[in-house]
Amino acid sequence: MLVAEKIADVKANVKVWKKEGKTIGLVPTMGYLHEGHASLIQRAREENDIVIVSDFVNPIQFGPKEDLATYPRDFEADCKLCESLGADLIFHPEPSEMYEDNFCSYVGVNTLSENLCGKSRPIHFNGVCTVVTKLFMISEADRAYFGQKDAQQLAIVSRMVRDLNYNIEIIGCPIIREEDGLAKSSRNTYLNPEERQAALILHKALTRGEEMVRTGEKDATKVKAEITSIIESEPKAKIDYVEIVDWNQLQPIDTIDQDILCAIAVYIGKVRLIDNFIVTE
Ligand code: PAJ
Repeated sequence: MLVAEKIADVKANVKVWKKEGKTIGLVPTMGYLHEGHASLIQRAREENDIVIVSDFVNPIQFGPKEDLATYPRDFEADCKLCESLGADLIFHPEPSEMYEDNFCSYVGVNTLSENLCGKSRPIHFNGVCTVVTKLFMISEADRAYFGQKDAQQLAIVSRMVRDLNYNIEIIGCPIIREEDGLAKSSRNTYLNPEERQAALILHKALTRGEEMVRTGEKDATKVKAEITSIIESEPKAKIDYVEIVDWNQLQPIDTIDQDILCAIAVYIGKVRLIDNFIVTE
């Protein structure tokens, strides 16, 4: 497996692979890889000749009060995992390699970035769209793999690719969970044992909400109220949002009569966790 820190090195390899007619799958990550990331890499491995994993904690998607400095990192372990999964190249640039002095070009998606996590993280999705665009250009990938864990991100990146005619296919992949239901996340390492236990309330509440929708409940307010009251039964939990939006434009809806995303963000202590379910017709 190749390890590249420079954009030029990735491009040089991509040039050769493209000349040989190989297909390229890209898995963008911020590192500290777990089974959620691994599932994307495995899927990319199955569907492409070449697999590139990017491992970059992207500073421009973090707000000033967020956890950029403390975001967990373990590049050695990431390399081992990527190698064991058969990745061909891991791209691990310094921030200065991605954002040179005077960098001032950003990509953004309107409407879909406004609600859910966009409310409390106003610059986040522009940072994501910008770095992902750069990674698409650098890797010239045919396909890129994103988890439904970050459903709003998946919707926004898919919309960006459609709206702006990028030559890449976005593949959405299911949420990978711990055995007890907690969605796997690099940020789960911030939880102490009591908080880890309390965090189960997210999956519990969503399971109940999904059951209501799947058995025919059409009133979004009722579903949100049920999810909210389950989460509020956990003293360590503080709700950032519980929202039901249409899966196309991510706008809040009152009546569940189309494909929907039900997404939640909840603080467990100081740790902000997200989870969701999607119901399509
Ligand atoms: P990161 O949080 O490292 O996630 C990288 C990819 O792994 C995302 O597509 C995310 O949805 C997916 N993922 C994380 N946990 C998962 C789980 N439990 N099950 C399935 N997939 C999971 O998302 C980012 O990084 C960044 O915003 C990035 C796209 C790399 C841009 O910087």
